[in-house]
Amino acid sequence: MDKVAYLQTWGCQMNVHDTEKIAGVLRGEGYSFTNEPEDAALIILNTCSIREKAEHKFLSRLGYFKLLKRKRPGLQIAVSGCIAQQEGERFLIDNQYVNFTFGPQNIVKLPELIRRDKRKAAVGENPALAETDLPAVRNDGTRAWVNIMYGCNNFCSYCVVPHTRGRERSRPMDSIVNEIRNLSDTGYKEITLLGQNVNSYKDPKRSVFNNSSSFPQLLEAVNAIEGIERVRFVTSHPKDLSPELILAIRDLNKVCEHIHLPLQSGSSKILSLMNRKYSYAEYLDKVTALRRHIPDITITSDIIAGFPTETGQDHDETLAALKEIEFDGVFAFKYSKRRYTRASEMEGQIGEDVKSDRLKTILELQDVITDKINRRLKGQKVEIIVEGESSSDTNHWTGRTRTNKIVNFTPEQSIKKGMLITVTITNSFRHSLEGRPEGLMPVTKSN
Ligand code: 5AD
Ligand code: SF4
Repeated sequence: MDKVAYLQTWGCQMNVHDTEKIAGVLRGEGYSFTNEPEDAALIILNTCSIREKAEHKFLSRLGYFKLLKRKRPGLQIAVSGCIAQQEGERFLIDNQYVNFTFGPQNIVKLPELIRRDKRKAAVGENPALAETDLPAVRNDGTRAWVNIMYGCNNFCSYCVVPHTRGRERSRPMDSIVNEIRNLSDTGYKEITLLGQNVNSYKDPKRSVFNNSSSFPQLLEAVNAIEGIERVRFVTSHPKDLSPELILAIRDLNKVCEHIHLPLQSGSSKILSLMNRKYSYAEYLDKVTALRRHIPDITITSDIIAGFPTETGQDHDETLAALKEIEFDGVFAFKYSKRRYTRASEMEGQIGEDVKSDRLKTILELQDVITDKINRRLKGQKVEIIVEGESSSDTNHWTGRTRTNKIVNFTPEQSIKKGMLITVTITNSFRHSLEGRPEGLMPVTKSN
């Protein structure tokens, strides 16, 4: 059981990629990995604190590991990620069986933490974060996540992220490009650039002279990397979606026609209380500009139901916005009160029942809209990158369109994971499409 680690992740893509880096650092220390916590000498739980539900899931799992440790006192248990950062020393005091914790900025300290006898919470600021490239263990082979920036400066009033991930810091463009070149050399085809707010990316080497975002330039540099077929990015803040970025998405052939652009609410009053720095009308203008320049773009969004003081009228404005914009898909959540945030102290917190009802109407309405949009795709020929066997049905394989829609198809012998193929959409469902492979020649981007 020497040097065998079990890793579990909750939360967003940023966290999933942080776990890949935790694994990279551990591999450098001679660790191998197991899917069975019972076989591990070291357990690391990479946590999320964005909503209460994620915290609860982690805490109930942690209870199981506590029992494991009772049977095997030599077991090392560590907690990383946003809960570790948010709770600091207190987490170690309350959970005596946890050996150490570390926040998202301190993955680099892992080798030292594993060796220490004394328990420690590594939750300090790491000023070198954006300049320190850590190795990552990636298992996919085709699609890779790449950090371009860390942290967030926006302080949306509901959001704990600026408190757990600290201030915005961008990675130098040349390190990002080098990492992606190496990924391309090892066969990766699709890159997703990751940041809390990618539209405000600033190359630290250029921003000395120029204070505007260099995200369009970064996209251009990544687009030029040979071997990479598709470039995506998450997440975009609407306030920083510039005309230059819209043109970059339009003109760069590998940049996919999909944007995740969280609206959060259709009520400008609520948006202002959320500190989103745009009104509904301004958001709509950006959507209109995106669609004017890139007619086949798909747009997805996040919505929060039941933010403090949200009235029935505000909620109706969100429903009206969903109808007006017709997103391809929406992630909707009940507002969840988070420690340290301004919204948690606001008067007018909404009851759970009302939040649940509003969430339900949002999801039901969006289902109808997604269904309607996906139905229109029937009969179209689209390019997909083959991702492999479907997780829900072993008779089918799945791939993803440039517009980020999942397509299931019956595999043929010549089709391998990572290939770009053309399929005709034969059927549509709420969360996926069904397609028939037409050949191995990809469709080219039509501008
Ligand atoms: N309650 C509910 N949803 C939240 N999100 C962020 N913080 C909260 C919260 N306190 C949602 C937002 C964000 C997404 C990642 O999570 O919609 O865009
Ligand atoms: Fe949170 Fe707003 Fe930053 Fe997104 S942009 S991480 S919602 S504070």
